[in-house]
Amino acid sequence: MEDLLDIIQHRQTSRTFDGRKVTGKTRKELQSFIDEHSDGPFGSEVRVKLMDTSNAGKLGTYGVIKGSHTFIVGSVKQGELCYEDHGYVLQKILLKVYDIGLAGCWLGGTYSKSVFADRMKLRKKEVLPAVIAIGKPTTGPNIANKVLRTACGSDNRKPWSKLFFNGSMNTPLTKKHAGKYRKVLDAVRLTPSALNFQPWRVIKKKDAYHFYLKPSLQVSPLYKMLQHVDLGISICHFDLSASQLKLEGKWLTKDPGLCELEYIATWKEKE
Ligand SMILES: Cc1cc2nc3c(=O)[nH]c(=O)nc-3n(C[C@H](O)[C@H](O)[C@H](O)COP(=O)(O)O)c2cc1C
Repeated sequence: MEDLLDIIQHRQTSRTFDGRKVTGKTRKELQSFIDEHSDGPFGSEVRVKLMDTSNAGKLGTYGVIKGSHTFIVGSVKQGELCYEDHGYVLQKILLKVYDIGLAGCWLGGTYSKSVFADRMKLRKKEVLPAVIAIGKPTTGPNIANKVLRTACGSDNRKPWSKLFFNGSMNTPLTKKHAGKYRKVLDAVRLTPSALNFQPWRVIKKKDAYHFYLKPSLQVSPLYKMLQHVDLGISICHFDLSASQLKLEGKWLTKDPGLCELEYIATWKEKE
């Protein structure tokens, strides 16, 4: 991908598209990217398909999306950190979508899940946590988009002091202390999330960054699951930004017990 940090910084969800399917050279490029990038960092089996409305039946979005006829649909085999892997893999593909001049919208709630699941031909123990509508973005009228962006506060992200911590949840991590990881955490902060809840919290301790999930109060089981997808997306932004900045490390899943929140995973810098 061209300049990933730039794509992350300028990406914005689109809900209005030009009414055409993704075809030709663009589709080929996207398909070959999908073929080579379907692995998440935690080893879950993720299957990804490009689906069009015409040959895949009535793929509904409850009027939220206008003019998209192609979707990225991903299923994952149930297991530990499977939703995180799903979020990671689909976000990586979505960033490629922006790289080739298209745009998209994650759909975890406002889509006809059973129809997509049917078309995906789910295998034993597979689930379908969310899909992504894609296409050439336009700026046509879309009331649902306006309502959703306002309701979710989509243009606001929590400040660093509420997301990133130094040693424990008692001390916010300053940009200065983040050092060479400052841009990486900036990219994490810009992660898209269901209802823009931004449930990721990161504690830096020595040469490691520990990811935790802070659940929003009183959310339905669907949104509890989607918050794990959000964590996977934030881990994707961290991983790809670190890699672009040539910061080497690996993902571990050993809870250091730094806080009461649900532990997800740790980035350990290469010694
Ligand atoms: C896992 C996930 C599920 C989402 N589900 C929906 C959805 O069902 N309908 C919708 O219109 N937007 C959905 N969104 C888009 C978010 O509302 C959007 O990412 C957020 O408000 C931040 O806006 P931005 O992506 O433009 O930065 C979802 C996003 C994520 C990451």
